[in-house]
Amino acid sequence: HCGSCHTPRGLGYQERGYDESSQAFLSGGLNDNWFASNLRADPGSGLARITAEDLAAFMKTGHGAGIAAYGSMVETIEDSLQYLTDDDLRAIAVYLKTLPATGAADGVFDPALAQPGRLKTRAPDVPPAQGAAVYAGFCAQCHRHDGKGVPQVFPALAGNPSVIGEDTTSLIRLLVEGGNGPATIHGPPRQAMPSFAERLTDVQIAQVLTYVRASWGNDARPITTNDVASLRSTLHK
Ligand code: HEC
Ligand code: HEC
Repeated sequence: HCGSCHTPRGLGYQERGYDESSQAFLSGGLNDNWFASNLRADPGSGLARITAEDLAAFMKTGHGAGIAAYGSMVETIEDSLQYLTDDDLRAIAVYLKTLPATGAADGVFDPALAQPGRLKTRAPDVPPAQGAAVYAGFCAQCHRHDGKGVPQVFPALAGNPSVIGEDTTSLIRLLVEGGNGPATIHGPPRQAMPSFAERLTDVQIAQVLTYVRASWGNDARPITTNDVASLRSTLHK
């Protein structure tokens, strides 16, 4: 079930791995313009920093470890995962935590990088000041100036694995379209993320996402204006 979104597809649209014998299994997949993140033990964009308890809570309520579900993961939780028993959720979480890292090249999170003067390895080409100004004006009211969000309400962006992944499709799409966060029987009420399609230019969307991916200890490659423009033309938005 999870692999239909989270495992990358091959040329014939087949899933490139159906169990743990394959390195590609659950290493992240793109479907219908949502990127379903890497569920293996990679330290940056994988689940290395998320405990089995937080994973089980995420599947049941859409919130866990300061992260909130978005995109096609919201329906997956609302329509199906929230109804699993606690034992089943725990079993899935414990199983996911046994999958080894793929060693994929992607972003990293290291709180030490947030200290002034520390050089980032994937430093953005865009002057961070411009992205910082957009962030302060349009994002910090919910995600906070320190990127830590508000637990159970607004997701943290600092150290959030899906924010520092190599595939940035979901990030750009969420900013362009906005989204509804999860609402479940046992979780907190639904919150909305506004759409920025009318309020920010492609340049500003690239700048703010580049800033988010290079702040508070996050260190992932920059997003270009071209990345934003090409996804928007695919989405017709
Ligand atoms: C319909 C597609 C779809 C299916 C099926 C699906 N997911 Fe997801 N999942 C996504 C997308 C897209 C994301 C990225 C957005 C987010 O982080 O919520 C995601 C994110 C996640 C995350 C958060 C990862 C992170 O780094 O933030 C976890 C954990 C997760 N999925 C677990 C599962 C498990 C376990 C299953 C199977 C029981 C599953 N998903 C099935 C689409 C799907
Ligand atoms: C009014 C509050 C609000 C504002 C303003 C806002 N967001 Fe969000 N954001 C949310 C909510 C709620 C979610 C949860 C997911 C969803 O929409 O499904 C979210 C999710 C996200 C995520 C995915 C992280 C995750 O794990 O869910 C990213 C990345 C993000 N926002 C970036 C931004 C950026 C960049 C801005 C400014 C341009 C911004 N947000 C402005 C409320 C907000």
